[in-house]
Amino acid sequence: MRLEAGSITNAQEIAQIYQTAFPESVRFFFGSKKPARLNSLLTNSFGLVLLWGGQVLLARNWEHQVVGYCIYSKKPNPIWRNLSWQMLGSTLRMGGSVLISIRPSEVIRLAFNKLIMAVQAKRYWSPPPEKGRIVSIAVSPTVQGSGIGTQLLTAALQKLDKHSVFLNVRTKNQAGRRMYEGANFQYYGQTKDLLGEWLMMVRLSETTNPSHLDFP
Ligand SMILES: CC(C)(COP(=O)(O)OP(=O)(O)OC[C@H]1O[C@@H](n2cnc3c(N)ncnc32)[C@H](O)[C@@H]1OP(=O)(O)O)[C@@H](O)C(=O)NCCC(=O)NCCS
Repeated sequence: MRLEAGSITNAQEIAQIYQTAFPESVRFFFGSKKPARLNSLLTNSFGLVLLWGGQVLLARNWEHQVVGYCIYSKKPNPIWRNLSWQMLGSTLRMGGSVLISIRPSEVIRLAFNKLIMAVQAKRYWSPPPEKGRIVSIAVSPTVQGSGIGTQLLTAALQKLDKHSVFLNVRTKNQAGRRMYEGANFQYYGQTKDLLGEWLMMVRLSETTNPSHLDFP
C-alpha cells in the first residue's frame, strides 16, 4: 500500500469508493438512480470539490488500484488567488453535468438535510475558528480495518499541520470514532440529519491556548 497526492483526474475512483463505503447514504439520497447517472453525479461533485480547493490523498494497493482516499481543505482557501477562465469553464462543465444528473426532489432532500444539520447543531464548548477540515475519508470495504484509514488521516493531518482541524462523524460509526479519537480529535458538539446523529469533532492546533476556549 502506498500513499500519494491525488487530483481532479481521480474523481471517478473516489466516487466509486464513496459508493461502496457509504451504502446507506447513497441508498437514502439516491436510491432510485441508475448506476451510470449516480456515477456521473458523484464524479462531477467530487471533481467540483477538488477544483474548488479540496485536496486529496489516495491510498493505492500493489496492483495500483485506489483503495482509499482522504479529502481535506484549508482556510483561507488558496483558490481565490488562482481564479482563471479555465477554472470557470471546468466549473460550468461539471456543474452542468451535476444539474443534468440530479433530480429536483434529490436537490430538495439534500438541501433540507443541510438545513436540519445546521439548525440542530449544539456546541458543548466553543472551538477556535476553523482553519482545516477533513471533508471525506473512506476505504474500500474489502480492505477496511487494516490501518489504511489511519495512515490516510495521519498524512492529511501532517498537511494541515498547525491548523485546527474539524470534522463530523456519525455517532454509530465506531471505526471512524476510534480512528479520530486515536488522532487526538475531541468532541465539541452534536447535530442530526435525516439519517441520524452526528458528532462534531476538532483537533486543536498545537498553538491553541486552552485558556482562550470557552469550556462549560
Ligand atoms: C472509517 C474508516 C475510514 C476507517 O478506516 P480503516 O482503514 O477501516 O480503519 P483502521 O484500520 O485504520 O482502524 C481505525 C480504528 O478503527 C478501529 N476499527 C476498524 N474497523 C472497525 C470496526 N468495524 N468496528 C469498530 N472499530 C473498528 C480500529 O481498531 C482502529 O482503532 P484502534 O487504533 O483504536 O485499534 C473506514 O472504516 C471506512 O471507510 N468506513 C466507511 C466510511 C466512513 O465511515 N468514513 C468516515 C466518515 S466520518
